[in-house]
Formats: sequence, C-alpha cells, structure tokens
Amino acid sequence: MTETPRRDVRNHILFEVATEVANRVGGIYSVLKSKAQVTTAEYGSLYTLLGPLNRASAAVEVEELQPKDPAMIATIKSMNERGIQTLYGRWLIDGAPRVLLFDTGTGYYKLDEWKGDLWATAGIPSPPDDHETNEAIVFGYLIAWFLGEYVYHEKERAVIAQFHEWLAGVALPLCRKRKIDVTTIFTTHATLLGRYLCAGSVDFYNNLQYFDVDAEAGKRGIYHRYCIERGAAHSADVFTTVSHITAYESEHLLKRKPDGVLPNGLNVKKFSATHEFQNLHQTNKERITDFVRGHFYGHNDFDPEKTLYFFTAGRYEYRNKGVDMFLESLARLNHRMKSSGSDMTVVAFLIFPAQTTSLAVEALKGQAVIKSLRDTIGHMQANIGKKLFEKSLAWHEGQEVPDERDLLNSQDKIMLRRRLFAMKRHNLPPIVTHNMVNDAEDPILNQIRRCQLFNHSSDRVKVIFHPEFLSSGNPVLPMDYDDFVRGTHMGIFASYYEPWGYTPAECTVMGVPSITTNLSGFGCYMEELIENASDYGIYIVDRRMKGIDDSVNQLADYMFEFTRKSKRQRINQRNRTERLSDLLDWKRMGMEYVKARQLALRRAYPDSFAEGEGGEDVGFFDGMEGGMKITRPLSAPGSPRERSGMMTPGDFASLQEGREGLSTEDYIAWKLPEEEEPEDYPFPL
Ligand code: UDP
Ligand code: G6P
Ligand code: GLC
Repeated sequence: MTETPRRDVRNHILFEVATEVANRVGGIYSVLKSKAQVTTAEYGSLYTLLGPLNRASAAVEVEELQPKDPAMIATIKSMNERGIQTLYGRWLIDGAPRVLLFDTGTGYYKLDEWKGDLWATAGIPSPPDDHETNEAIVFGYLIAWFLGEYVYHEKERAVIAQFHEWLAGVALPLCRKRKIDVTTIFTTHATLLGRYLCAGSVDFYNNLQYFDVDAEAGKRGIYHRYCIERGAAHSADVFTTVSHITAYESEHLLKRKPDGVLPNGLNVKKFSATHEFQNLHQTNKERITDFVRGHFYGHNDFDPEKTLYFFTAGRYEYRNKGVDMFLESLARLNHRMKSSGSDMTVVAFLIFPAQTTSLAVEALKGQAVIKSLRDTIGHMQANIGKKLFEKSLAWHEGQEVPDERDLLNSQDKIMLRRRLFAMKRHNLPPIVTHNMVNDAEDPILNQIRRCQLFNHSSDRVKVIFHPEFLSSGNPVLPMDYDDFVRGTHMGIFASYYEPWGYTPAECTVMGVPSITTNLSGFGCYMEELIENASDYGIYIVDRRMKGIDDSVNQLADYMFEFTRKSKRQRINQRNRTERLSDLLDWKRMGMEYVKARQLALRRAYPDSFAEGEGGEDVGFFDGMEGGMKITRPLSAPGSPRERSGMMTPGDFASLQEGREGLSTEDYIAWKLPEEEEPEDYPFPL
C-alpha cells in the first residue's frame, strides 16, 4: 500500500463557501464581508471565497482578475472546458479577498444526473419543483467538483473548506463520500426547522427535545431540505453554530452536538476623534428629519428637537423578528406617553422588504411638496437678500432704513400661499411608503390596524413602514442603511428566533443604543459579558422566563424610560455604547474561527501534528488582545463582568481537542421556563 503524502498543515489553504459571497441577502453576507479583513490578514492569497455567481451584484462588487495559483488555474480551466462558467476576482470590500463565483445556470445540464447521485450516495431526495433546492444541489456539486480537482492539482498543502448554512452544504456529504482530501467545517447560522417552527405558533423553546424532526419537516414540505442540512452537519469534520442558543437547538433538531460556537464579529472602524460618531449622528438625524417633515406634511405639529427615531429592520419574518411584540409595545408606549402628558414624539420605522408594486404617490408627494416649499423659500430668501443689498447700497444719511415689508412682493406672497395650500391634506400621514401587493393580508399592516397606530396628531408614537431595504438611490428616503442607523436614537429587535442578530450589534458599534431579547444569540452574548448592560445602551427583554404580556410591558418600559432621558443623558449613553465596539471586533471574535480551523486540521491530519512535524497550533491571533478587559464607565454605575479567559463564547464550548462536542450543561444557564401557551397571547398573532 502506498502511503499518502502528508499535507502541510501550517501553510494550509482556506476556502469559505456560501451563497451570500458578494451577494447581499441577510446576515451571512455581513459575516463574510466584515470578517474579510482579518481573514485576508491571516491568509493573504491562500484564502478564497466560493459562491454562486449573481451577475447583477457581482457586476458592482467584484473586479475580475487572472488567478496566479497553478492549481486554481488548472481547476478553473478544466471546469470551463466542460461548460461551467466562472468569475474569478477580487471582492471590492475591506481586505479585498479573492472570490471564485460559479454560474450555476451552466451546471443545470447535469441536474438530473446529480439529483440521482445525491439520492444514491447520500439518500437525500429532491422533488422536481423546488428551485432553491435545485440551486443548492447544482452549487454543491460544482463545489465538490472544484475541491476534488483542486486537491488533485495541489498536493503539498492541506486544504480547509468551511461551509456556511444548508444552502451551501450539499458538497459536504459529497466530500465525505468521495473521500476528497480536504478537511471541512460546517457553520450553521440557523436551522431550517427552527425558523419554520418558530414562525408558526409553536412553543419552540419548551419543546425542543420533543419534536419529531422528520415528521415536522415533512408537514412543512421541507423534508428534503432538512436532509441536506442534517447531512451537512453530520458529514463535516467540525460542526459549529453562531451562538449557544443555536447550538442547543442544533443538537436537538440536527442531532449532532456542535463542536463549538463561532460568534459573529464586525469590522470596527475607529474615528480619529472620539466625538466624530456623535457628529455623524447629528448630520444623519437631520437627513431623517427632512424625510419625516415631508412624510408628515400638513401634520408637522411635533418639534424635531423633541422627537426620537426608533427603528427595527431585517428580513421580513414577522414573528421571528419580534415585529408582533414591537408593535404591541409601541401601542402601549403611545398610551403611556399620552397619559403621562409627555411632550416627546417617537417616530418608529419598520424596515422589512415585502412585495410592493411601486412607491406610494402620497409618499412621493410628501417629499415633493416639502422640496418645492424649500425651493420657493430659498428663491425668496435670495431675492430678499438681493433687494435688501440694493436698497442698502442706495441708502444715504437722513433716509429711513429699508423696511422689511417692501422686501416681499405680491408675486412672492402668491407663490408662498400656493406652497402652503399644497400642504393641505385631508388624510392622515401614511403608514407605508410603498404600494403593497398584499395590503389587506400584510401582517405588519394588520397589526398596526389592530393597535390603531394611525399617525393621528394626538398620537405620541408615529409609525412608518418602509417595505424595502434602504438605499441612497431611493427618492423617498434617500439614505444608506448605515447612515440611517447612525441618525436614529434606538434600534429595537424583539426577536423570538434569532441565532445571532447582526442588527443590534451594528447599532452598538455605531454608538446607537438597542433593545434585543434573551432569545437572540447577540442578546445572550452581551448579557453574559456585561453587568448592567442597559447602562451601556444594551437593553435585553426577557422572553424566556417571562410570560408574553410581561415581556411586552418590559419592552414598553424600556422605551418609555428612554423617552424620559435628557439630551445630555442620551449623548452620554451613546458614548458608553460606542465603547463596547472593541468587544465585537473580529480581531477578538475571530479567535473562534482560528480554533475551529485548528480542530479541523487536527481531526483530518492527526499525523501532521506529531511532535516535531511543525504542525503546532498557529494563528494570526496568537499574542493578540485575547484577554482584554472592559473598564467600568466613569459616568455610570454598571460595570461589565471581568471574565478574563472567558471573553468569547467559544470558551464555553470545546473547540479544543480531547472532547468530542458540547454537553448540554455547557450552554449558558439554559433553563426551560414555564411559559404561557401561545394561545394566551394578549394580542392576536
Ligand atoms: N440590512 C441592510 N439593509 C437594511 C436593513 C438591514 O443591509 O435596510 C442588513 C443589516 O445590516 C444586517 C442584515 O441586514 O447586517 C441582517 O442580518 P441579521 O443577522 O440581523 O438577520 P438575518 O437576516 O441574517 O436573519
Ligand atoms: C450629537 C451631536 C450634538 C447633538 C446631539 C443630539 O451628540 O454631537 O451636537 O446635540 O447629537 O442628540 P439627540 O439625542 O438629541 O439626537
Ligand atoms: C442568520 C440568522 C441571524 C444571524 C445571521 C448571521 O441569518 O438569522 O440571526 O445574525 O445568520 O450569522
């Protein structure tokens, strides 16, 4: 028997495989994009992201390049010769990692063959009409094809392939069956069943260990997808998730205990001046105010200086993202603000992409009437200045100083009157900025109708639903998401199902306080790490131990408390929030990725780690700020727990050799609460 040559584990090659490479859908894009800088710093040209080619987004995000690595050149050439089109290039983001994107459309000629093979080799069925699954299968087979050929050409170095989420997971059972000489990591960012079960009215967290997973998947028509996900989890050398709560869920629903938790970080950019982010808040808040003035034209009876902007945002998963709870709490907040005689106004934005036909005429008109008012007044202002200047030039001693009544002529007055009349309106300011395809059945609109949050003058809480992700090219609310977040006062994410939750984390690094729940990975992470998190602008609603009515009240209390803060208190709190950024930086969080890769190498190439073989653990983060502590804020009583050596969630888990996985006790203080039946919800779901 010929001995297989040992691969060099020290200078290994890394591929990360996902469907959101250079293609924004949700949080996985944020993971890959924000992590790119630390990963390229560690790997340089040995790192490549593999994804399906989405031509529209690749056209703006990717610059084509010629590969230099001979194995890469040979593999791409061979696939191209067999009809598979690819795009190799640089992803135009911080770190500029290399990407190889596969045009799945060019692989469909083999779809039937591959589906048959998937059934024969892995026992995974695939119905004919599920486009998403077909895409996952073609992509998976292309990845397995690529990896198989790549390691045939590259014989020296070890290769790690890390796969994100089930959609990118089909290649995992194939790598195992074909014995492709790579080591694999599967990182799941949610489970299919978790998402589906939570979206229905199931008491998910109390029943996790009791679900009949095959039957539940079957009932929801996702059995084949579930098989892919479960197959991926079981075929990987190392299996990880993004939080402890999802680790626990995966253990029960996917029937494999994760080897560890890889929490999500962010690429934290520090400004040279510490108050710079506060200035950005002010300028972006003014941009939001411009929009609000247009939206509420004819009803601008609230003072922008006494107005707070709250928002929630994400993929449109009504119950999972806690929109039901948010709206109910807003209704209670409205009531409390009214009955306490508050002089503040809250404008709450909901940003969830839904099916729309176009922007609403009323929304466009609002911006247009305010623009013409501003233009007319600008014009009048210039005229007044000019006239005043000329009259002043002509003035000589003994004359009256120019009279302001002569400065506006009758034409100006008529113009102004026309602009004012254009702002007359007989309807209330609209709730939604677009025409919805399904207005009558939309869950957000229906809940707003039930709660009667109709933007009346007397309402202290106004609501705006923007059913499209934000972008600076939008004529109604022309702002990119990040700028918008900076301009708001608070982000509110009352999630019921949220494996991590980037949105509140992004708020934190931008110095914007946020409310999240202890059912979100991020919320649990912060709760574990910081004592008195609310002093730092991290509010965590208890959705585990409390009944739903109490959770709704807790959320309303947090919001109400916030409306009572003075401007000075808000500024101080933002400063404290922003100081938490370092905690979420990939420079720290990325440690767990390093550990997972080490474990994958050790599992696949144990011999290369024999003493003296140069296979000792190596990582970019060695000697970096691993044990950093957060200092207590001077301006607030609370202080984060000082848990040196326990500063990343992975430390609770076992990404170390010697233990074969997490035990349930490893999950942070996870208890099964006595919860109300979902039927007892005080509001219709
Ligand atoms: N997001 C965006 N534009 C918007 C609203 C949200 O790009 O108008 C992004 C946001 O920055 C975040 C992602 O969508 O990174 C949502 O990720 P999260 O982890 O919160 O949830 P997921 O969608 O993955 O469940
Ligand atoms: C930032 C700016 C201040 C501004 C404040 C408004 O701190 O630097 O100039 O007064 O924001 O805060 P507010 O919470 O009222 O939006
Ligand atoms: C998933 C989860 C989200 C998480 C994201 C990135 O889409 O829904 O909670 O933040 O992946 O891990």
